[in-house]
Amino acid sequence: MNIIVVENAQQGAEKAFELFEKAYQHGAKHYGLATGSTPIELYTLIRHSNLDFSNCYSINLDEYIGLSPEDEHSYRYFMEQHLFNTKPFKESFVPNGLEQDEQTEISRYETLLKQYPIDLQILGLGTNAHIGFNEPGTSFEERTHKVQLAEATIQANQRFFEKKEDVPTHAYSMGLQSIMDAKEIILMAFGKAKAQAIKDLVEGPITESVPASILQKHERVTIIIDKDAAELLN
Ligand code: GLP
Repeated sequence: MNIIVVENAQQGAEKAFELFEKAYQHGAKHYGLATGSTPIELYTLIRHSNLDFSNCYSINLDEYIGLSPEDEHSYRYFMEQHLFNTKPFKESFVPNGLEQDEQTEISRYETLLKQYPIDLQILGLGTNAHIGFNEPGTSFEERTHKVQLAEATIQANQRFFEKKEDVPTHAYSMGLQSIMDAKEIILMAFGKAKAQAIKDLVEGPITESVPASILQKHERVTIIIDKDAAELLN
């Protein structure tokens, strides 16, 4: 794994943008995108860039079950606001949080992933080392699936909602195997709250109790962290 330690989140976003632009120039057409606060600044840099995605496709990692695309807490809405409204892709796929039939949504998404294999995957990191919504204990073999969110995730994501009861309890998420299929991966994590997850991801054993540790097995991963997130590394 290529690990880049920067001073702060802003520098991290700039570094990620550099790598993103490089992948674009090398012909990346299918982008795996993530939500959360971590990639927001990267998306701002992309919005202000000259990059044109009219011939590219984006595929998001996950979506809350029960939220419509118009719901301001949905990940579809997040992506429209932070990227797609300004930089439209030829098509942008996000799991359909309103699909009640799990199998229908899972096979639709897996078909899309086969049709548009991801060239570059952007990832954030949960404080419990989840990626996408793959919580600790998720099988490394898992592909797109329905997830019950861990208590730690519900608590961490509560800040975006008025009250805890409003945070959805389930989501659709690309699985760890779907993520590992990406040709290149950039994971960003900033702040002390991510330090333990980063240590486990980088130095710990590869174990399903640390979902992100699977990335140690990927051939092209760059981890961009600030000093705070790096503070527990040897
Ligand atoms: C959510 C998302 C993840 C994201 C994580 C971290 O649970 N499903 O994709 O990486 O939160 O969020 P943040 O970047 O806000 O710390």
